[in-house]
Amino acid sequence: MKIIVTGGAGYIGSHMVLLLIQNGHIPIVIDNFINSNEYNLNKIKEVTGKDFIIYKKDVLEDLSDIDTNGVNGIMHFAALKAVGESVEKPAEYYKNNVAGTINVVNFALSKGIKNFIFSSTAAVYSEKVEPPFNEESSVYPANPYGWTKYFSERVLQDTAQTGKLNSVALRYFNVAGNQEDGLIGEIAKDPKNLIPSIIVSHLGYRPTNLKIFGNDYPTRDGTAIRDYIHVLDLCEAHLKALEYLQTHSGHFTFNLGSENGATILEVLKTFEKVTNTKLNYEIVDRRSGDIAVSIANPNEAKKVLGWQSKRDLKQMLDSSWKWYKSGFREANNL
Ligand SMILES: NC(=O)c1ccc[n+]([C@@H]2O[C@H](COP(=O)([O-])OP(=O)(O)OC[C@H]3O[C@@H](n4cnc5c(N)ncnc54)[C@H](O)[C@@H]3O)[C@@H](O)[C@H]2O)c1
Repeated sequence: MKIIVTGGAGYIGSHMVLLLIQNGHIPIVIDNFINSNEYNLNKIKEVTGKDFIIYKKDVLEDLSDIDTNGVNGIMHFAALKAVGESVEKPAEYYKNNVAGTINVVNFALSKGIKNFIFSSTAAVYSEKVEPPFNEESSVYPANPYGWTKYFSERVLQDTAQTGKLNSVALRYFNVAGNQEDGLIGEIAKDPKNLIPSIIVSHLGYRPTNLKIFGNDYPTRDGTAIRDYIHVLDLCEAHLKALEYLQTHSGHFTFNLGSENGATILEVLKTFEKVTNTKLNYEIVDRRSGDIAVSIANPNEAKKVLGWQSKRDLKQMLDSSWKWYKSGFREANNL
């Protein structure tokens, strides 16, 4: 099947492009390269021997010239994703993420594309709810980024009511890891997520020490607990969601997480073990917009999609380590 992948040059999108090809599908990428470049896509072409179309475009632009002949669905990854930055630049986030999604939805409607898979986030859940979160848990994001994702979900849910576009919103918990050999990955030079931050600081790509934001949370060691999910498991869930939409109409929401939480200090210790290194870090104040504990209840995805995460934290750290030591350096000319 032909599948449009917005944000296909980025971290998760590029893993999706590769998995689509490995499963006999044909990706069509739309990306403006604001947080990436062509490195991942070139690597994918090299290892698979398959060529595919790349549109260098902003999802806010007129998309009508994109060839949608035979396209079965859209996987919409393109977005800005840094929670802290969304607190500083909310309007930029609402424009890129909400207006961007609306434009892609209108494009799907105008071209008669019926299936839409959306990258949502665990950041939609209210911090007042006791984790693990299920899809029925109250939604009240703690930051503008989370709101942009929730508003986008509403656009899809309401559009599904018209019967013209079926959609799945996948609420990702903390995505980590890379292709096992570290072939492709996140390109942004100043990554904000924990595992990339650990590695870029450790390898000296960033001049400052690794910062841990807060050790006074009500958790077992005082640092925040997150549910880490391997990017390859996550992409497999997208294939299952695509399959599901072939025979089901409406709007559906699924949590994608491992059901296990790790504290930041536990992640650091596991990293030290996996890579046989010693980390330097400093504890600083909590960061605005962060919550204490975020853990998924992924039972709905298990039951309905037949999906379950299989890879563990060690595999995430090992493959990330490989990416940041080689491909990341090359992709950024470091
Ligand atoms: N990484 C995570 O832990 C995580 C967790 C929850 C949700 N998500 C969501 O998953 C999606 C993919 O995240 P990622 O980690 O791969 O991020 P990423 O920054 O690596 O990839 C996003 C890609 O989208 C592109 N892009 C951004 N705005 C665009 C626009 N207006 N037009 C065209 N292209 C644009 C960027 O250039 C980049 O290539 C995002 O929607 C993000 O919000 C990520």
